[in-house]
Amino acid sequence: MSEDDAVRATNDDATSCKRSAVQMSYWQDPYIQYFIRAGERKAPEINRGYYARVKGIQVLLKQFLELTKCNCQIINLGAGFDTTFWNLKDEGMAPVSFIEMDFQGVVNRKAYYIKNRKPLLDKLSSEDCEVHFNGSDLHSAQYHVVSADLRNLSELSSKLKDCAVDYTLPTVFIAECVLVYMPSESSSALLTWIAQNFQTAFFINYEQVVMGDRFGQVMVENLKSRGCILAGVEHCRSLETQKHRFLSAGWESAAAKDMLDIYKCLPQAEIQRLDGLELLNELHDQLLSHYCVCWAFVDRRGIGIPFPQMGL
Ligand SMILES: C[S@@+](CC[C@H](N)C(=O)[O-])C[C@H]1O[C@@H](n2cnc3c(N)ncnc32)[C@H](O)[C@@H]1O
Repeated sequence: MSEDDAVRATNDDATSCKRSAVQMSYWQDPYIQYFIRAGERKAPEINRGYYARVKGIQVLLKQFLELTKCNCQIINLGAGFDTTFWNLKDEGMAPVSFIEMDFQGVVNRKAYYIKNRKPLLDKLSSEDCEVHFNGSDLHSAQYHVVSADLRNLSELSSKLKDCAVDYTLPTVFIAECVLVYMPSESSSALLTWIAQNFQTAFFINYEQVVMGDRFGQVMVENLKSRGCILAGVEHCRSLETQKHRFLSAGWESAAAKDMLDIYKCLPQAEIQRLDGLELLNELHDQLLSHYCVCWAFVDRRGIGIPFPQMGL
């Protein structure tokens, strides 16, 4: 198995962990079942970690959608089998355009599932635009999933062109456990390119942090033993290094919080509900404090992105 194959396989892990947490009622997602079969139940701290991850990203995303009244684009980098588009559609909060990018093998499978599962396909259909397939890529009026290697900026920009991306429309980028798999030079080049080319962009990055301590080292070694190298781990040393990668790539402002902090912002009633789902062990806090959300923006259109607080 090549290094890239091992990185692609991380999508299956993420999807099965999300399905496990959904099955345990951590959150609702009627679409995840179309991308992966029900599997084994994951450990409570894994379910809870995925809950914090999904919730943390959702909170920032919804703030951006509300601010722009959905007159914006979402670009999900290394989207895997993410189901956000379908859930936003049900909530009447889908943006003008929702673009997903991943390696070809992942996009092939996603496009196949969409084509063959009516509840997924139905949400893409519209009267004036047919769903069409171009090799592994899928295009529809609002939703696109295209293959591109994020380390290759000319491929990425040409695929964005196929999706009729609008560089003047406010755009929110999501990278959920993705940049860490890219060499630092490649992720820096990607972030610089986005900051230079989009007039107003908001970036939500979820990934590891505090990777220099013992717990972090064990995580790195575990992944390595499965052939998966965290090539961009140097940005994951601290919340400061996470913010710095954006500021040094030309972003106006950046902030970051670890997931334990974010988790503590949950309303008491929600924490009680989660506590009722299953008992946790002592690994929970440690795991949450080794992941973070970092968010950053450039706002040349002056839409007035307020610096979002992670109050959940
Ligand atoms: C851990 S999975 C996360 C999937 C999804 N974002 C989620 O959180 O459910 C990482 C994803 O990033 C994709 N990825 C990593 N490096 C990439 C690259 N250079 N180009 C395109 N996709 C990449 C992988 O194929 C995989 O689908």
